[in-house]
Amino acid sequence: MSKILVTGGAGFIGSNFVHHLLANSDHTVTVIDAMTYAGIRASLDGLPSDRFELVEGDICDAPLVDKLVADADIVVHFAAESHNDNSLNDPSPFIQTNLVGTFTLLEAVRKHGKRFHHVSTDEVYGDLELDDPAKFTATTPYNPSSPYSASKAGSDLLVRAWVRSFGITATLSNCSNNYGPRQHVEKFIPRQITNVLCGIRPKLYGAGQNVRDWIHVDDHNSAVMEIIEKGRSGETYLIGADGEMNNKDVIEMILRLMGQPTDAYDHVNDRPGHDLRYAIDNSKLVDELGWQPKYQDFEQGLQATIDWYKENEDWWRPMKDATEAKYAKVGQ
Ligand code: NAD
Ligand code: TYD
Repeated sequence: MSKILVTGGAGFIGSNFVHHLLANSDHTVTVIDAMTYAGIRASLDGLPSDRFELVEGDICDAPLVDKLVADADIVVHFAAESHNDNSLNDPSPFIQTNLVGTFTLLEAVRKHGKRFHHVSTDEVYGDLELDDPAKFTATTPYNPSSPYSASKAGSDLLVRAWVRSFGITATLSNCSNNYGPRQHVEKFIPRQITNVLCGIRPKLYGAGQNVRDWIHVDDHNSAVMEIIEKGRSGETYLIGADGEMNNKDVIEMILRLMGQPTDAYDHVNDRPGHDLRYAIDNSKLVDELGWQPKYQDFEQGLQATIDWYKENEDWWRPMKDATEAKYAKVGQ
């Protein structure tokens, strides 16, 4: 039984990770989360109070981080500013949390000799052409496009440097786009689902030819667990489930599954610097660690996600109006 410190555990992926871990193991979990606009207390409802604690705090707060890391056996680092569109409007919190926050954690991990897992994104590799047969691998050169992806790329390189120069024990994972329950309504899939539920037309950036490699959040988290248990220190594992689809097809699938005409959406301003395509080669994870995704069928996973948002309006309603107001200001 281990004591696991989860950073950013009140966010989308972190909260799903904590629910899964507490339901399927004897581990105890402490979450450190600054409860930014993306930290949702309700995402941590129903967890066993004898094995779970939420500490409201910032990963840049070195004394607090030092104390929590000293008390833990393993640190799993999800906390980040995570939305590209926000990073284009104001990069500053991205630099602070993603770079200074990761540095602060690494210093505490180094001092106390704790195991570290760093959760990152495939966006650090830049983008691919639509017809490129290549996919991202752990040796693809870094080429990030946005302040978000650049700050995540920088955080990955800090982790690698702390492994090499200071000998900390750390693994890294770079995952493709996640979908599933408890994702903030600023992100593509939940934004469109909740738009339909509110009677707002879904919003497609540009022509919608951009491709994302969708993976269910539970599959991302099962891969993170495999890497924590079996991964080799200093190694990077790419997580993806062969889920490439363009945004136009995803919006049309959402509309069809929700009983709407498939052309009932608006084209809005494109994102500046919009990455064209992401695609993950997951063979290292599959061959070395034996991982397999559970959600092989995107349409089924999407239907389950739509059902979750239909059944959990109390969860997303409070954030919907402010999110749409933010998009309206930039014509999206
Ligand atoms: P999210 O925005 O839903 O959650 C981030 C959490 O971090 C929030 O609870 C927020 O309050 C917390 N946080 C932010 N700044 C903090 C700080 N300074 N100190 C403490 N807590 C802070 O993000 P997510 O989608 O769950 O992403 C989690 C991680 O996974 C991120 O590192 C992201 O880069 C990575 N990732 C996300 C995706 C995706 O599709 N969402 C894909 C690959 C990798
Ligand atoms: P997003 O969920 O923001 O993830 P990321 O930028 O990390 O890929 O966006 C996914 C894709 O959907 C991306 O190509 C931008 C596009 N998009 C829209 O077309 N409309 C929207 O309303 C949003 C939020 C995103």
